[in-house]
Amino acid sequence: MTETAGDGTRAVRAGLPEPVAHEPSLPGPVFAAHYHLPGEPAGPYTYGRDENPTWTRLEQAIGELESPEAPAETVVFPSGMGAVSAVLFSQLRSGDAVVLPSDGYQALPLVREALEGYGVEVRTAPTAGDAQRTLVDGARLLWIESPANPGLDVCDIRRLCRAARAAGALVAVDNTLATPLGQRPLDLGADFSVASGTKALTGHGDVLLGYVSCRDPRSAAAVRKWRKTAGAVTGPMEAWLAHRSLATLQLRVDRQAANALALARALRERPEVTGLRHPGLPEDPAHTVAAGQMRGGRFGCVVSFTLPDRAHAERFLGALLLVDEATSFGGVRSSAERRGRWGGDAVPEGFIRLSVGVEDPDDLLADVERALDRARGRAAT
Ligand SMILES: Cc1ncc(COP(=O)(O)O)c(C=O)c1O
Repeated sequence: MTETAGDGTRAVRAGLPEPVAHEPSLPGPVFAAHYHLPGEPAGPYTYGRDENPTWTRLEQAIGELESPEAPAETVVFPSGMGAVSAVLFSQLRSGDAVVLPSDGYQALPLVREALEGYGVEVRTAPTAGDAQRTLVDGARLLWIESPANPGLDVCDIRRLCRAARAAGALVAVDNTLATPLGQRPLDLGADFSVASGTKALTGHGDVLLGYVSCRDPRSAAAVRKWRKTAGAVTGPMEAWLAHRSLATLQLRVDRQAANALALARALRERPEVTGLRHPGLPEDPAHTVAAGQMRGGRFGCVVSFTLPDRAHAERFLGALLLVDEATSFGGVRSSAERRGRWGGDAVPEGFIRLSVGVEDPDDLLADVERALDRARGRAAT
């Protein structure tokens, strides 16, 4: 791949092997619990929990997207939480301190409980205003989620990495919402870029996946060792589906980001909508920092906003025809949910997280406007 290749070119070619006559461009999934292994055991492929050629190709592909200009290793996991846990549990020891976001993904409190149980000190601060910066002294690891899910606050990743570096702390960035085409944490100074590939990376709502990318081979080895120890390994079929999905990553994230911005613009005209957030909106509190570190105008596919109360939000969700009521985000089909129903996020009862898909924008906007009208009790057709 040439250094000047664009993101779309990179995405379609990422991780493909050199062409071999009469072979497919992306070889199919390799289903193997073990490999022929005569004599002394030596890699690359020995046992199915350690390595698999379908993972190798996917890891190569994600690495090319996360870090096209410097060598990086990627380790795939069967879910985003598998990847998150691999970094935290491979890097932290009893007596260490870690700084987590207080407004990150709602499973982080579960991780916190587990870490504290192992004697790790957990400090938390909000993503906005780079507040985590004040807690890095004496910490071993700073964990960033930017944009944060579901509130969509953003922190200045370069600035936080500088502060962490000065304090001797490692930095991991959860890059789930942005995808590697929207943000390259390793270029911004992070040690680890971690993501749930279940979301926009694979984008079809049919695969659970996670990955960790890093440039330091010792860190990569520690994460790989954790995968072997925990036995949290990706099925070859899922890995192959994920790799196939990467070919359309640029098309999807560009369309979804454009649709999300169009929807956010329409929502700001609605009097019943408050707390509207999307980092691509010029007036969003996160926009300036996001624009300085996110790539190609790709501010993600999520729009968050609040309707007057729970009943209003439920009427809205029930009236949508083109937006599925479902959790998760990043898929080609738009989806939305009242986030408060899970009880894990500090959000108002009427808070909606809407994940924008690749539908025709006019159809999507019309559906959302109609559902909002219905939820307000206006006549609807
Ligand atoms: C920001 C973020 N990180 C990590 C995860 C965990 O990913 P998975 O559900 O694939 O385990 C999620 C899931 O929603 C997420 O939103």
